[in-house]
Amino acid sequence: MLGPKEFIDDAIEKIKAQIGDEKAIIALSGGVDSSVCSVLVGEAIGDNLTAVFVNHGLLREGEAEQVQEVFKDRLNFIYVDASDEFLSELEGVKDPEEKRKIIGRVFIEVFEREAEKVDAKFLVQGTIAPDWIETKGQIKSHHNLALPSGMVLELCEPIRDLYKDEVREIGTELGLPDSIVHRQPFPGPGLAVRVIEPLTRENLAIERAADAIVREEVEKAGLDKELWQYFAVLTDTKVTGVKGDQRDFGYLVVIRLISSVDAMTATVPELPWDVIRKISSRITSEVSEVTHVSLSISDKPPATIEFA
Ligand code: XMP
Repeated sequence: MLGPKEFIDDAIEKIKAQIGDEKAIIALSGGVDSSVCSVLVGEAIGDNLTAVFVNHGLLREGEAEQVQEVFKDRLNFIYVDASDEFLSELEGVKDPEEKRKIIGRVFIEVFEREAEKVDAKFLVQGTIAPDWIETKGQIKSHHNLALPSGMVLELCEPIRDLYKDEVREIGTELGLPDSIVHRQPFPGPGLAVRVIEPLTRENLAIERAADAIVREEVEKAGLDKELWQYFAVLTDTKVTGVKGDQRDFGYLVVIRLISSVDAMTATVPELPWDVIRKISSRITSEVSEVTHVSLSISDKPPATIEFA
């Protein structure tokens, strides 16, 4: 592989040659792949790239603000708050596959509206090598994507031959902050797959608050560098607890802190007990709907990383 600087120069030349003076669009999630792609293509074609960040209402605490802060002055950046559109369709849905289908469909609807507004000819995607190697074999890098509206976009995939650690190196070379470059993987359907209860705004708020505590304590303890993912899951189990001198019937939250290199397999490492206890006591005291916290200790396989 070329060094990071040479890779960037080479990628910019290739992007310029492919896109020319046409317009391009990218769905920027704030994950390292789409962030690196956005900045690379932005360096190559400037404001002819529109980077669309869709807030589907299923993001973690502070995430929408953080992504806007990093990119709003660096790219032709559009923030779309579509949370009402997503959440009204998801209200009361429990089945995780149903949630994923709805989120996928609404995402395309929202994104397509933006692509039409800018008259994009190219869709930039942050596909990386593990996304296509082994699963599909070599596929053509120049191919088209037809959107449901009939709009046809040509794909531009500037980092499709890179692995995650290489993408991170390029991100650092491009001057992206560590909060983006070393961000833990976060599923596209967001917190929806971490709420096992039927999805409501109230349940999402409970999950988001518990998850924020996990992230804060893990990061404060410096464990984020060692862990692949660390998060909370709001289960559909209610557990009796005591709050003050009252019996309480609240939610069971499970915390999942796992090590992995590629998410294909994962293990639960030995964890510092003081951090686990602190997370547990903070969640039950700060999130009033939760009475009980448990720690997941199952590896993948046989478990999966997410609960749903
Ligand atoms: P599992 O739960 O299958 O997850 O062990 C493996 C990795 O994939 C992420 N994940 C998803 N990512 N859309 C995504 O973009 C999804 O629907 C989805 N489900 C799971 C998960 O966070 C883990 O990193």
